[in-house]
Amino acid sequence: MITGFEHLHSTLRWVLLAVLLWTVFTSLAGRFKGGAFGAKQGKLGLIAMILMHSQLVLGLVLYLDRMGDMSRFFTMEHPMIMVLAVVAGTLGHSMTKRASGDEAKWRKQSTWMTIALLLVLTGIPWPFLAGFEAYGWI
Ligand code: HEM
Repeated sequence: MITGFEHLHSTLRWVLLAVLLWTVFTSLAGRFKGGAFGAKQGKLGLIAMILMHSQLVLGLVLYLDRMGDMSRFFTMEHPMIMVLAVVAGTLGHSMTKRASGDEAKWRKQSTWMTIALLLVLTGIPWPFLAGFEAYGWI
């Protein structure tokens, strides 16, 4: 069961990255080109947020299961950075929803989802970073 959760948490990262990248790309394009902020664009942000919340729940289960038996990176940096990412993504969805007017919606979504994306990219234990001692995720 827990191995399944681990695989799901690992695989969902790619789905989240794809949706988040697409949300950031389209919202930045909308912000600079102008135009109507449609329901489809709002849904994209909603899906990105749901994927982040799913990762949060799965991550918490893994965290509780492995407590006391993880590297510093997985005990501290990874959960802290990812919780901040989830907060940014949640704000990205809710503030966009509440904003009035297309321009404000594009601005809120592009700003917060870009922050969320940068945090997710920073918090992922990329294999090529394993060699850096300061990163210490092994
Ligand atoms: C929101 C975005 C998140 C993403 C994209 C993400 C991504 C990842 C990835 C790629 C791994 C490595 C899996 C592998 O070995 O292949 C991982 C491991 C892990 N994550 Fe996350 N994570 C997120 C959030 C969280 C949160 C919020 C927590 C804790 C509260 C968490 C706890 C863990 C734990 C405990 C591990 C496993 C460490 C081990 O293998 O022993 N994750 N995560």
